[in-house]
Amino acid sequence: MIVFAVETSCDETSVCILNNKKKIFSHIVYSQSEHKKHGGVIPELASRSHLTILQKITKQALNQANIDIKKIDVFCATCGPGLIGGLLVGSTFAKSLALGVNKPFMPINHLEGHILSTSFNNDINYPHVCFLLTGGHTQIYLIKGIGKYELLGETLDDAIGEAFDKVAKLLKLSYPGGPIIEKNAIKGNVLAYKLPHPLKKNKNLNFSFSGIKTAVNLIVKNENRISEILIKDLSASFQETVTNILEEKLNLTMKQLIKKKIKTSQISLVGGVAANKYIFKRLKKVANEYDCSLVLPKKFMLSDNAAMIGWTCIKKISKNFSSDLMFKPNPRLSIDT
Ligand code: KG4
Ligand code: ZN
Repeated sequence: MIVFAVETSCDETSVCILNNKKKIFSHIVYSQSEHKKHGGVIPELASRSHLTILQKITKQALNQANIDIKKIDVFCATCGPGLIGGLLVGSTFAKSLALGVNKPFMPINHLEGHILSTSFNNDINYPHVCFLLTGGHTQIYLIKGIGKYELLGETLDDAIGEAFDKVAKLLKLSYPGGPIIEKNAIKGNVLAYKLPHPLKKNKNLNFSFSGIKTAVNLIVKNENRISEILIKDLSASFQETVTNILEEKLNLTMKQLIKKKIKTSQISLVGGVAANKYIFKRLKKVANEYDCSLVLPKKFMLSDNAAMIGWTCIKKISKNFSSDLMFKPNPRLSIDT
């Protein structure tokens, strides 16, 4: 079965041609650079860019794969959550291709794409715990099987990746902020600044990151200039604070599961922020304390990409989920079952 997948939910325009034997014939990810000067994604610019790029990279992907479009068995695209303009461009494009060659169209949930990305390179045991850490979401799920996801907790305000991006913007660093903050943090002092640890007293699995960002803003405003040392120390202190929060929530998740007599041996970290090596190292230690392994997707499936969307389509078809050409993209599409 050969699948053609499209991802356009935010600022990556991506297409992938792959099969159910995990062979990736072609995979193109175009990261829109026009948002860099704004320090965040501008939805209108993103939609226009998807519109310009999508046909080009589709031709390239078909050429690279050396596959005739009529040989594609299923077309799929991200239908939410995400920016509606991008979702409309990508899903309408993939639906049109499907109609043109009389093949089915599968709508895919972007979050499910991230969640199932680890099943491409790991044997996943159920139930397992998934920390979904992206620029738009921060959620903890109990994954009971494909299509069976229980939301245990989520952010009440900013997403963790968004917090990395906003702190980077305050420090006049470029977008996306995560990788630059991580790089600077290596050379900084984690104890240089004491930042708030929101919801510490609430023994639930929700997050809040907006207060940390406000605290960083105040520190930056109190300094005369943004020096190298400020960038390094504040990056380190910020990364340490969010890692402490994730560590605390992972401990709490495991304690709650033990209390409910739910046994799990695997925890996964997915989404762009899962690329952070410091966070991985610290959470791996916690996972191991509960006799769990900590698994990651392949590097090319960490940030937004069409390969995880195509892979999710394959996994869903294997569980008999049906195609739906009339599916309406939804910016707030949820997967909580
Ligand atoms: O999953 P993703 O590509 O997009 C969404 O679905 O939102 O995640 C992008 C986010 C950005 O906020 C970016 O700053 C963050 O992932 N990110 C990182 C790192 N690499 C990317 N955050 C922390 N450390 C990193 N190394
Ligand atoms: Zn994403």
